[in-house]
Amino acid sequence: MNGVKHLISIKRLGADVLFEQIIPACLGMIEPASIAIPTVNSNHPKTVLYFDEDSTRTRMSFAEAARLLNWDAAQETLTCNSRNKHESWFDTLMMWHEFNTKVICARTHQEGVQLWLAEKTEQHKLNIGIINAGDGRNQHPTQTILDLVTIQKKLGRLDDFKIGFVGDLQKSRTTHSLLDALHMRNKISVVCVSPDNVKLPRHYAGMFSDFTEESRLESLSDCDVIYVVRWQAERLEPNSQEFRAFLQVKQHYQINKKALNMLKPNVMIMHALPIDQTVEEIAHDIMNDSRVVAYEQAWFGVPCRMAILQMILNNLQEYVSFNPAKNTIIQEEKNLSLTEALKKTRNKQHEHFIPLECGTVIDHLEPGAGIIIRMMLKRTASVDNDIIIVENKNPLKDMLALKGIFLTEKTMIDIAGLSPRATFNVMREGRFKKIRIIQPKQVISGIGTCLNTHCVTQSGEPGITSRFINTSQNSHPFECDYCGQHFTLAEILPIAV
Ligand code: NCD
Repeated sequence: MNGVKHLISIKRLGADVLFEQIIPACLGMIEPASIAIPTVNSNHPKTVLYFDEDSTRTRMSFAEAARLLNWDAAQETLTCNSRNKHESWFDTLMMWHEFNTKVICARTHQEGVQLWLAEKTEQHKLNIGIINAGDGRNQHPTQTILDLVTIQKKLGRLDDFKIGFVGDLQKSRTTHSLLDALHMRNKISVVCVSPDNVKLPRHYAGMFSDFTEESRLESLSDCDVIYVVRWQAERLEPNSQEFRAFLQVKQHYQINKKALNMLKPNVMIMHALPIDQTVEEIAHDIMNDSRVVAYEQAWFGVPCRMAILQMILNNLQEYVSFNPAKNTIIQEEKNLSLTEALKKTRNKQHEHFIPLECGTVIDHLEPGAGIIIRMMLKRTASVDNDIIIVENKNPLKDMLALKGIFLTEKTMIDIAGLSPRATFNVMREGRFKKIRIIQPKQVISGIGTCLNTHCVTQSGEPGITSRFINTSQNSHPFECDYCGQHFTLAEILPIAV
């Protein structure tokens, strides 16, 4: 595929598509966008701009991009859309499709909606492209694309610089997306300055070899770029204590004349905008300083969104798979007669192996995983008392023996999602097979619950189930594939531990 059909998150694009196709296409659109005269496009493809959260720049720049491309743009908000009457996302999508929509740009309060919509368009062969114009605290990929174009144009490079992030980094989707992109570049140093209660989600720290978290603006003094982030007050209760507490200390995080003086003389100060005028995270009296590029940055949204709409239109006929287990290999490591296999096992004096004539032995489970998988099998595969947990004397692994039971490929993939080294010894009709699951991503789907109440999997949408990627990264390795939040196993499968 040349480019992209759905733009859901930065991570899903991959470095090749992002930096070799999208960014050059965006840079190439700067000149046509500056001329600001609509191109000739007699088909008038239709895009729906659905925004259930406030927006000026993203919505208007999509509308301007559509105008310059000679597309029709239908603007919808929650007050005029049947989502307000509790219509499902799927039915809403079907209606947009019936009315000849080619691209849906959606900004949603819920997280993960755009992925769900994209999955549905593929499943029902709708030939519609989906763009995530910001989903809650999660991602804002088109903002990142215009941020990268701004950095490329103003700094002249996308590698080898130091960037400081200041503000509410916990809930800032623009920060999350931009960090995902910078993670794919070379020699990027990151410094984060934020109050303790709104620190960046912890898994980002491990993505950069040079990463620091600081509490004072002074630590930004050698940054080439400063990315200032608005306090995301709309994600808190109105008038919340947290916000009032922040207003007391806001001056510690404000980029103002004094702060400018201690930064590099040629620093570039970015902000996705809007600036909250009650906070003034960038003081209004420096907005016209040449180091503050926020207004120009916002304008880059027009050529970038023109390039993205055009690229998606060109790719509508392509099929995209969102199955994170898609490149999984179910590898048969052994396939021999059962008699031979049992003889070998006895020779190895594998005292805990239960020689079943018919059934499955799951071996090499992480210590402690046996009991969790036993619970999981009981709940999802209706496997009950026939499971025996082998009380291993070997502290390095757990093992499960399932008499008369054979697992589906999906169940084996889920087990490997929890415990990647697992092997499956299948004894059936006089044969012995040893199976190992090799997967680029360890996935657990349809089991467990995402604790994020803003996640689309928690929205009551008919047919949606949870899906987690085992990132094996840190103390919270299980990433919800929809909303991007990270959890421990005990959080997503509380009955298992
Ligand atoms: C950002 C957003 O909506 O996440 N704004 C934007 O798209 N230009 C940043 C913000 O609202 O703080």
